[in-house]
Amino acid sequence: MIVKTPPLGWNSWNTFGSNINEQLIREMADAMVETGLRDAGYEYLVIDDCWSLRERNEKDELVADPEKFPSGMKAVADYVHSKGLKFGMYSCNGTLTCAGYPSSFDHEFIDAKTFADWGVDFLKYDNCNRPLSYSGRLLYKRMGLALANCGRDILFSACNWGAEESQNWIKETGAHMWRSTGDINDSWASIKDIAEKQVRLLPTNGQGCFNDMDMLVVGMGGKGNVGMGGCTLEEYRTHFSVWALFGSPLMIGCDIRNMSQEIKDILMNKEILAINQDPACRQPFAVPMIQEDWFAWKAWVRYLEGGDIAVGFFNFGDTPLYPTLALTEIGLGRVSGKALRVRDIWADKDLGVRKDHLSVYMEPHCCVMLRCSVVDA
Ligand code: GAL
Repeated sequence: MIVKTPPLGWNSWNTFGSNINEQLIREMADAMVETGLRDAGYEYLVIDDCWSLRERNEKDELVADPEKFPSGMKAVADYVHSKGLKFGMYSCNGTLTCAGYPSSFDHEFIDAKTFADWGVDFLKYDNCNRPLSYSGRLLYKRMGLALANCGRDILFSACNWGAEESQNWIKETGAHMWRSTGDINDSWASIKDIAEKQVRLLPTNGQGCFNDMDMLVVGMGGKGNVGMGGCTLEEYRTHFSVWALFGSPLMIGCDIRNMSQEIKDILMNKEILAINQDPACRQPFAVPMIQEDWFAWKAWVRYLEGGDIAVGFFNFGDTPLYPTLALTEIGLGRVSGKALRVRDIWADKDLGVRKDHLSVYMEPHCCVMLRCSVVDA
């Protein structure tokens, strides 16, 4: 199975934590269709930790908690599939999951078969409670091999938070995406921290195995399992833009049954999603503009398939910014005889043609996302 662009979907953890059940998952499947998320490209509906009984059955198989999932997981998977969605589940490489439920250590092949029998299409695989003598590097390979031999295409989503320098070996394991940093929470500080930590890992991102910057907190509004202070709408927009431009999978974490129009407009912005899903999956590069606070003063540029250029200006600082990007820094300039036709995506505005430079204004924590086409000067 080859995954060509960053996976898109929804995951239960950020808002619901252990508070999950069949009814909720069915409602989320319905909401993915009714809100238009499915048609915008969000495909996977993923149940995270806390879905199973505390004991395996007599055949040593994992068992869905019958109080939370009275119809069983196969029925839940069938419902999710009936909505035109794909179904994801969660396990872990240790003896217990992070929340203390039975986990797949030494049960990799039997669990992969169980997931395949239920109709699972996506497995998030965590990294807690590992016996000390086993490396993540080995245990992720075990499950990668088990999934590759389970008789069903199951996307392998490794979740070891970038531990053990996993960027150096994660592709050995068959992972299609891998958590490159620690857990997100619904605060500006967390968004900024993950974005900064991602920068050195960008060269490892690419088609087939994507750097996963963690589930989105867009729209959480400080509520739910990882809700902290919450963020402003502008901060959510910047968060979404960075994740999209950096080529991360986009797994929504808010309660999609109750999204405001503003949140829907962020999560379903077609032009931002098109950059995230650009088939070339190229890595973005930073262009320095003024040498000060390193993140606040850089533009992030990504060459897109077909010759267009995406440019993201992010103000991670706490004062307004008026950065200027010289076109010579991104491969153009007077001598090329070319210029850029510029579109401001969030403002939904065509800005005309620029020959020398791009200048924008940003309030603190805000961003500007441009899509530019190369034209004759
Ligand atoms: C963490 C993981 C989270 C969530 C949680 C469940 O290790 O990073 O995304 O899955 O475990 O217990």
